[in-house]
Amino acid sequence: MPLVLRLDEVDSTQRAARALIDQGALHGTVVVARHQTAGRGRLGRAWHSDEGGLWLSMIVRGAVPATRAPRLTLGAAALALDALDSIGGLAARAAIKWPNDLLLPHAVPAPRLGPWRKVGGLLLEGVLLDGGVVRAAVLGVGIDVRRPSHGFPAELADVATSLQDAGVDIEVDAVLDALAPRLQARLLDALEDAAFAELLAVLRARSATLGRRVEVDGVVGLAERLDDEGALCLRDDGGALHTVRAGDVQCMV
Ligand code: BTN
Repeated sequence: MPLVLRLDEVDSTQRAARALIDQGALHGTVVVARHQTAGRGRLGRAWHSDEGGLWLSMIVRGAVPATRAPRLTLGAAALALDALDSIGGLAARAAIKWPNDLLLPHAVPAPRLGPWRKVGGLLLEGVLLDGGVVRAAVLGVGIDVRRPSHGFPAELADVATSLQDAGVDIEVDAVLDALAPRLQARLLDALEDAAFAELLAVLRARSATLGRRVEVDGVVGLAERLDDEGALCLRDDGGALHTVRAGDVQCMV
């Protein structure tokens, strides 16, 4: 089984994992920290990482055509759902906001999310690029397991939640034990068509995006379906179909 490196505090497990790639660490090596002082989210956003969350980065090595790299984020999202299902207590209520947000249902609609709150997120960063091929990357996963002791910061108060808030009383290490082996053993399977089709079926069935009116990078419309590569097909109000391969989805509640 590949190494799991546990840190007490680090700026970002993404940076720490990247440094391990430079030292030759193997595929599946996981860096996990109790606390990050400069956790990173997508699109250059900060990621709030107090104690009580699972803050994990995994080294991904392979020969991944850059056009297939989105499969890794999507595959990891499906595996994260499987891990959350396995810990019990959520009754398969977790869902994915395409492409990388882990959500839990919530009674009070939130701006840009609808009847959901964000419990986690995924971040894939390519590290070694060789022409059009990704040789190494870092997959980051953050999951709010316990409510931060001083609560979520004001800017997250109406969009974030934790497993604890959803009634799941579990240690961070138990979530790590559910998630890390799945990612280590199965993430690269997402590059194979048959395995990816299975992961995609999970994402379609457990999507908080499909069937909703959304805005993605200035285009507003109905999130109709995910195509066979997992791209989001968006029907705008004029009837045109937009295929979105990456982006930030805002739900028009
Ligand atoms: C997102 O939703 O924007 C992605 C968030 C990813 C956060 C995780 S926490 C562990 C790893 N280290 C980081 O600095 N970021 C990722």
